[in-house]
Amino acid sequence: SNSTKTVDERLLAVCDLLKTNIKYYNWVGFYFRNGQKEELLLGPYVGEPTDHTVIPFGKGICGQVAVSDQNFVVPDVSAQDNYIACSITVKAEIVVPIFVKGENIGQIDIDSNTPDPFTEADERFLEFVCQKISEIL
Ligand code: SME
Repeated sequence: SNSTKTVDERLLAVCDLLKTNIKYYNWVGFYFRNGQKEELLLGPYVGEPTDHTVIPFGKGICGQVAVSDQNFVVPDVSAQDNYIACSITVKAEIVVPIFVKGENIGQIDIDSNTPDPFTEADERFLEFVCQKISEIL
């Protein structure tokens, strides 16, 4: 039954729901802080497999969000230094942090193959999703 689903199964279902329903969400995944270490570990995701299963704090868009506690919207990844490329098809990225009791414990990361697709509506929507996710972790 639904209640027997693990957290990772639920997070994967969220990824799948978002990717399926929002056509410019081409890779959807979660990164979470690895205990007290200053690094992120790849969690559930849908889309092309990535080599970047461990990301140090400060590195790439994801690593920057781990330290800034702020959303990071990248309209054009080719214009970013401190960007970790996962796929040559990716044009844009959005990362929104997940807070538990005020602590930044991870993030949702979305790559788009469409240039400059993300609006403030995506930010508000993904903040809502992250708030709901924080309640099931
Ligand atoms: N592009 C990210 C790395 C993760 S992949 O998008 C899945 C970054 O620069 O942090």
